[in-house]
Amino acid sequence: MSNAPVGVFDSGVGGLSVLGEIRALLPQESLLYVADSGHVPYGDKSAEFICARSLAIAEFLLGQGAKALVLACNTATAAAISELRSAYPQLPIIGMEPAVKPAAAATQTGVVGVLATTGTLKSAKFAALLDRFASDVRVITQPCPGLVEQIEAGALTAPATRELLWGWVQPLLAEGCDTLILGCTHYPFIKPLLRELLPANVSLIDTGAAVARQLRRVLAERELLASGPAQPAQFWSSAQPQALQQVLPLLWGAAAEVQALPG
Ligand code: DGL
Repeated sequence: MSNAPVGVFDSGVGGLSVLGEIRALLPQESLLYVADSGHVPYGDKSAEFICARSLAIAEFLLGQGAKALVLACNTATAAAISELRSAYPQLPIIGMEPAVKPAAAATQTGVVGVLATTGTLKSAKFAALLDRFASDVRVITQPCPGLVEQIEAGALTAPATRELLWGWVQPLLAEGCDTLILGCTHYPFIKPLLRELLPANVSLIDTGAAVARQLRRVLAERELLASGPAQPAQFWSSAQPQALQQVLPLLWGAAAEVQALPG
């Protein structure tokens, strides 16, 4: 039993989609969240840069007493999870990756689309995932430059967001895609808009809930599940704290104070 907090981070606000799943499944856990919004997007940055950021944020969260880390970011997981695990071999570290396996099992047409960042799609980890689980289906990958910035700004239904999305999903639909993987933690926030754009037979798959379940499994194995009550979630941003503070009610469902990430 440990009432120490769980540390969660992302390049920006995307990981709040995962934080919400963790809160829903594990309400007794105290949560710390770092948005590296001063360096968003990670999607077009080098693996070395993302590794350095991830190590610095991990160190900060451990300094705040975190008992486990969740990389609520597909791009950072692809770039940095091995280095983080080597740096902290005893620490439970949960990462995330596009849900290729469930999507391959779900598709009826045999055509799966993946919306993700350029960094995730060109990573060795993603190539390995396709080799392992997608040999019987056709996978069409679609990077989404500019989408993360729209979501960071809270422009979830803005005409510009709609236009960007339509430009990417239309060709996928033309190829017969019936299963769309949201391979970036920012994208669950535009599910309502995607639902408007896509026919009803197209399913959307993301991994936030699975990551929360994996966190519960790992904490239980190590006897680290909290008994509660949880402390209010704490938030830090490496950009102007006000920017995150402004979108928290929309993306986290409650207002909270945001502190500047030191360093
Ligand atoms: N939210 C992130 C992910 O899951 C990264 C987005 C970005 O910063 O490019 O991949």
